[in-house]
Amino acid sequence: MDKNYFITTPIYYPSAKPHMGHAYSSIVSDFIARFKRLDGYNVEFLTGTDEHGLKIQRAAEKNGIDPKKFCDEISEIFRNLSSILNLSNTDFIRTTEDRHIKSVQHLWKILEKKNQIYLSKYSGWYSVSDEAFYGDNEIKEEDGFNISLVSGSKVEWVEEESYFFKLSEWENKLLKFYEENPKFILPVSRRNEVVSFVKSGLKDLSISRKSFSWGIKVPNNNDHVIYVWLDALTNYISALNYPDIKNIKYKDFWPANLHMIGKDILRFHAIYWPAFLLAADIPPPKRVYGHGWILSGDEKMSKSKGNILDPIEIIDKYGLDPLRYYLLKEVSFGSDGSITQDKLESCINSDLANNYGNLCQRVISFNEKNCNLLVPEKNNFENSDLDLLNKVSNNINTMRSFIDNQELSSYTSFIVDCMFDTNKYFNDQEPWKKKSDIKRLNTIIYVSLEMIRKISILLNPIMPDTSLKVLKVFNLNQKDINFESIKNHESLKVNSSINKIDILFKKIEKND
Ligand code: MSP
Repeated sequence: MDKNYFITTPIYYPSAKPHMGHAYSSIVSDFIARFKRLDGYNVEFLTGTDEHGLKIQRAAEKNGIDPKKFCDEISEIFRNLSSILNLSNTDFIRTTEDRHIKSVQHLWKILEKKNQIYLSKYSGWYSVSDEAFYGDNEIKEEDGFNISLVSGSKVEWVEEESYFFKLSEWENKLLKFYEENPKFILPVSRRNEVVSFVKSGLKDLSISRKSFSWGIKVPNNNDHVIYVWLDALTNYISALNYPDIKNIKYKDFWPANLHMIGKDILRFHAIYWPAFLLAADIPPPKRVYGHGWILSGDEKMSKSKGNILDPIEIIDKYGLDPLRYYLLKEVSFGSDGSITQDKLESCINSDLANNYGNLCQRVISFNEKNCNLLVPEKNNFENSDLDLLNKVSNNINTMRSFIDNQELSSYTSFIVDCMFDTNKYFNDQEPWKKKSDIKRLNTIIYVSLEMIRKISILLNPIMPDTSLKVLKVFNLNQKDINFESIKNHESLKVNSSINKIDILFKKIEKND
């Protein structure tokens, strides 16, 4: 079985500081990367910054800084955010790096060799904010401006000499590819949108610009820079040392298992990217997942709307793990979802403090009083014990398939159920009334401790630090745990010592 797994985040525009939407793409990707690693995979996890194009050039000009210097500064902020978010990425690529530039120019030359590129003239609409070309039928007029119907951003008219990629030739081949790979685009609703867009007809795509210079030069024609999306998408293979396709990284990790992206950039990933790759005889990635947006109130977060939520401020106030948990549990994965401090506080109180935190505290302090912080000797399991323990063991493959199909909300709901059921078990079994039946009392504690272990392993990819704090109770570190081990009901060694833990989550006083 192939035990390599390659997952990528979008590479972010360093045109402004990162916001919660960026943090979201990264956190969901990190969750999957960590899960696969926990399940024994060798995971390559790539993130980075997308530094060329007019959008960046203009942002740099506005700040009166040279574009490269501007990118150096903001890219560094994104890199720092990766560690603030506790991302387990194995690489961070910048499109201004040499390794990337070489790769992009090579891909260009291959496309040229394969007769996929020609020189002509582009006249049409362009959105600098999206770095995207739009057709006449995708534009409306609003308050004296021309606006893209697709994204709502302003467009400007462009007329200039440009190289084109023969995208129109790929219409039927792409449709065939989608049909043969029904899970290439997920969720299904977005797949359908892409398929009908392609069916409505593809025009050749402008892939160079002449009227500005901040980009990778077209080989053999320095008047042109390569269209920023052809440049940016190539990061997924330049980070694997393309065109050196014999090197171990490329061999092990391409095609990527998953490009995790926001739904706003699906067209580029699900249409242009596989077309470029197929045209260059490179296999396309296995999956592109377009997640929903994090809304601020009812609106997408954006600089122009002034409704940006800063992930760092939220982390300073509430901690990282609660934020990671909230985004994975409260936002129904695939759909849009919102975050407000009020909702985050309710989630911390109900799920983290009352459910998980309380479960850990009460079981461990009960153990301390009755078993001196030792794993007690268990007796035979009763049905009630096995029902609970088997709930996890019997679902291990279901959990794997949740992750492999990006049904992330089903994974998190399952954990919440397990926490709830374990708390209920502890209540219903009333071990405090079993002082005269010490064997039964011990078994209840044993089962509860095993459930805490299993739940904490399940939570590990979502809240790595908190999970490890709890697993320390059993003297377990990251390297000692793996996903398969949640199958085992009897992993805790009788008479081994357990450790106390501090309060995991403080309840937040709310006025309502
Ligand atoms: N540079 C391109 C991506 C190139 S990938 C080869 C880009 N950058 S971006 O910085 O504008 O956005 C990066 C990602 O952040 C996108 O997937 C986008 O959907 C995501 N988010 C930006 N705002 C968002 C929200 N408000 N909510 C969720 N994610 C959104 O596009």
